[in-house]
Amino acid sequence: MRTIGIDLGGTTLSAGLVNHEGKIILRRTVDTEHSSGEAIIGQLCELVQSLCAGPASAEAVQVGIAIPGWVDAARGRVVTCPNIPLQGVSLAERLSSLLDCEVKIENDANCATLGEQRFGAAKACRNVVLLTLGTGLGGGAMVNGQLLSGVGSTEFGHMLLVRGGLPCGCGRHGCREVYCSATALIRMANEHSGGGFRRAKEVFDAVAADNTQAKAAFAEYISCLADVIVDFITAFRPERILLGGGITGAGDDLFLPLRAEIERICQSYIGGFDIPPVLPAQNGNDAGILGAAALFF
Ligand code: BGC
Ligand code: NA
Ligand code: ZN
Repeated sequence: MRTIGIDLGGTTLSAGLVNHEGKIILRRTVDTEHSSGEAIIGQLCELVQSLCAGPASAEAVQVGIAIPGWVDAARGRVVTCPNIPLQGVSLAERLSSLLDCEVKIENDANCATLGEQRFGAAKACRNVVLLTLGTGLGGGAMVNGQLLSGVGSTEFGHMLLVRGGLPCGCGRHGCREVYCSATALIRMANEHSGGGFRRAKEVFDAVAADNTQAKAAFAEYISCLADVIVDFITAFRPERILLGGGITGAGDDLFLPLRAEIERICQSYIGGFDIPPVLPAQNGNDAGILGAAALFF
C-alpha cells in the first residue's frame, strides 16, 4: 500500500508519497487554483496520478489531505475553509470515487499533531497540544494517545482571548487567532512602528537588530501567546506543547522569553503545576504532507 499526503494550502498544493518512516520519497507542488472547488478537485486528482504515474487504483494507494479549515473528518466533508472554495464539499467521497481509492481529510493542525506524534517532536507522547502560528492560528490535541475530535475538527484559534476584541476572519471578535498568529505579530509591529512590516521574518530581523518598536511588538505578542499556552496547559495537562508555523523561525528569540513569561504567569497561579516543555515542532514545511499521510499510519 502506498500512502500519499497532501497539504492543501491557500497558495500552494503540495503532495508527497510518504513511507512508514516518514520520508517523502517523491513530491509535487502546484499553485492552488482558486477559481472553483471543481478546479481544486481536478488538481488533486492530477497530483495523485502524477505521483502514481498512472491510475491510482492500480497502485493500491491511499490519500490523506490536510485542510486549513473546519473539517468533519468522519464524513469527509469540508465545513468551512476561508479563501479556498470547498465549503460544504464532501471532498473525501468525491475524490475517492474519482480516484477509486481510500481518501481521508482532516484539519491541517490536527494533521500536524498526528505527524509530530508519529515522526516528530511528540514521539512516544500520549498527551500533547500543538499550535501552528502562521497566517491563522491552528491547534490540535492528542489526549491519551488519541487525536481529540468532536463531530468536527477542534478549532483552538477561534476561542476567545479578548472580549469585544478585534474582528476575526471567522466572523467573531477577539479570537486567539487575531492575537497569536503570524498575521497578528505583523499587525502589532505595524501598530508600534507606524507601518512597513509585511512578513514575520522582517519583524524577527528587526528584533535581532535591536529595533525598539519591533521589540515592543514582539513582547506584546509573546505575552498574548504565553497566556494562551497557560490556558492549554490548564485544560489539557499535556506532556509537551509544540509550536509550528512561521513564527517559530524566530528560534530562541521566541522560545526563551516565551518560556520565561509562562513561568512568570504560573508562579502566581493557584494551579501550581509543573510546566511542560514548550518546543518547536520538527516537521516544518512538511507538517501537512507528513500529517496527512499519518492519518493512515
Ligand atoms: C482555520 C483553522 C486552521 C488554521 C491554520 C484557521 O484560520 O480556521 O481551521 O487550522 O487557520 O491553518
Ligand atoms: Na484543529
Ligand atoms: Zn475566529
